[in-house]
Amino acid sequence: MAGIRLPPEESDVSQAQQTRAAPAATDLVSDDDRSVAADSWSIKSEYGSTLDDDQRHADAADALSAGNHRDASDYSSDKDEPDAEAVTSMLGLQSYWDSAYADELANFREHGHAGEVWFGTDVMEIVSSWTKSLCIDISQGHIPNHVDDIKSEPVEDGEKYLSTWSVLDIGTGNGLLLQELAKQGFSDLTGTDYSEGAIDLSRSLAQRDGFANINFLVDDVLDTKLEREFKLVIDKGTLDAIGLHPDGPIKRIMYWDSVSRLVAHGGLLVITSCNNTKDELVQEVEDFNKRSIGAHQESEQTQKEQEPPFRYIAHVRSYQTFEFGGSVGSRVATVAFLHT
Ligand SMILES: C[S@@+](CC[C@H](N)C(=O)[O-])C[C@H]1O[C@@H](n2cnc3c(N)ncnc32)[C@H](O)[C@@H]1O
Repeated sequence: MAGIRLPPEESDVSQAQQTRAAPAATDLVSDDDRSVAADSWSIKSEYGSTLDDDQRHADAADALSAGNHRDASDYSSDKDEPDAEAVTSMLGLQSYWDSAYADELANFREHGHAGEVWFGTDVMEIVSSWTKSLCIDISQGHIPNHVDDIKSEPVEDGEKYLSTWSVLDIGTGNGLLLQELAKQGFSDLTGTDYSEGAIDLSRSLAQRDGFANINFLVDDVLDTKLEREFKLVIDKGTLDAIGLHPDGPIKRIMYWDSVSRLVAHGGLLVITSCNNTKDELVQEVEDFNKRSIGAHQESEQTQKEQEPPFRYIAHVRSYQTFEFGGSVGSRVATVAFLHT
């Protein structure tokens, strides 16, 4: 997959390098919320990775452009090595991430580099400031009504509300999104990842950057050992990765079951994805709601109306869009759901 490497930029962490893949004609569709799938996996800032990242990401981008889903009945272990057929879904495998973070950890130890920011620093900053404004709005009793945009402007005295928002970042990677949320004023911050290397890296970076109060734990979100609920659960790129496992469809079902237990009632789930549009994520949540209501009615032997567990409330509208052949699209979607 062809990518355009832009020149390195200065950053406060180290020299940053922006990588952008040129959107292919077929990647852009008329829905302006549409995120461009495979190419977006190359939208990342590399904080100076020098190991075999290029090859890894060329493979990853190829893997993303080829959907490879088996039936749920073929469900296999997440710890499996990719076989010849499943290689196209390597980003869905833990072995891929373990090897990626082993490289990044070595790179951090040798050169102090922080590794990749998936979808780029601009997206990370938008997600964190937009999420902060949303949390403040909700704390003040204003639940967005789908139509109004969330104002990412400083709200007077708003910060005082943030201490009540416990935050969980699932599939935290290098944990930089949590550092960004800490800068925004959140203080109760936890990051989990099923890759031990990711947790070593995120802890080391947090220590180095003065965010020793962020908690990091090894945890598989599909088999979580966390017994706590969080008022804000965020996911940037993790559902995308989970969906790329050869058993992606069933793993996505497991994801919703698990996440619904992690988000406190009245709390928020904020998902950033490059593989799904806002409308697709909303549809997936509606499917989960239906399953959940059906299971409740069956277990309680009742037809009584139950409120759907998740409700779509807002999405980021300010991402840069690209136009190609009359179609407009953005590369990522960030969508917020309220746990009712
Ligand atoms: C695309 S990366 C995104 C990393 C980070 N969220 C970011 O934005 O930089 C996907 C992350 O999800 C993690 N991951 C994938 N499946 C997971 C699972 N079942 N449980 C926990 N983490 C998982 C991977 O180890 C990886 O760190």
